[in-house]
Amino acid sequence: MSSSGDELLTAVRLHGRVPAHIAVIMDGNGRWAQARDLPRPAGHQAGMAAVREIVEGGLHAGVEILTLFAFSQENWQRPPEEIDALMSLLEEYIARESDELKAQAVRVRILGEIERLSPAARTAVDRLMAETAEGTALTLNLCISYGARSEITRAARLVAEEVAAGRRLPAEVTEEVLAANLYTAGLPDPDLLIRTSGELRLSNFLLWQLAYAEFYVTPVLWPDFTRVHLFEAIRDYQNRERRFGRVLV
Ligand code: IPE
Ligand code: IPE
Ligand code: MG
Repeated sequence: MSSSGDELLTAVRLHGRVPAHIAVIMDGNGRWAQARDLPRPAGHQAGMAAVREIVEGGLHAGVEILTLFAFSQENWQRPPEEIDALMSLLEEYIARESDELKAQAVRVRILGEIERLSPAARTAVDRLMAETAEGTALTLNLCISYGARSEITRAARLVAEEVAAGRRLPAEVTEEVLAANLYTAGLPDPDLLIRTSGELRLSNFLLWQLAYAEFYVTPVLWPDFTRVHLFEAIRDYQNRERRFGRVLV
């Protein structure tokens, strides 16, 4: 790690208020490839190294939960060649990283409509989740075939089924009940959202859970993102004043 990386990490840890849960919209792979006259999948391939970086950085900084947006429901509308390349990369990522993730006590969970994945990708993610289930150092949520509106709709449907079956009264449907039926059930909301490549939008990511997250947008394209960029984002977060609608006295 560069000395500035070491210094930043020390500053992050000394401050103490490390965000427990960081969500990331990993964007800019296509532009990274385009800038090098490479096909878009080459950008996705390069983006895998940045996933390793953020996991390492998160472990060093003491982040408890990382939720990474890897593939959206809307991304199914991309050209089939790009989708095929992304699915192959997912399998490659799992084959390459699963031992290391397990050794580092990282618990991996997949959030999204995994039924839509190819059988091979589905088998790989199921295996990865089972093999890392005991990890206690970091929870790594990979959002794949994920869309926030459909996640919330799914939660509403699950709650409606409980009500229809007479197991719950309509008046008992609270925010907590709805949250308990999201993919993120049991996890605290993200404290910090990072989006790379400079785009200022949520793109249907964690619409419920990000209600009070601090936003950090960096122009860095995802394949260029390193742990040092993560530490910079955390330092920025540490200087924020979170009010949650109150007046601070
Ligand atoms: C993010 O990079 C990865 C996915 C959405 C799968 P993009 O592929 O969106 O890259 P840009 O936005 O075109 O540069
Ligand atoms: C959001 O990025 C999805 C992921 C990073 C996986 P997109 O590149 O798909 O978002 P838009 O289309 O620019 O909003
Ligand atoms: Mg994009």
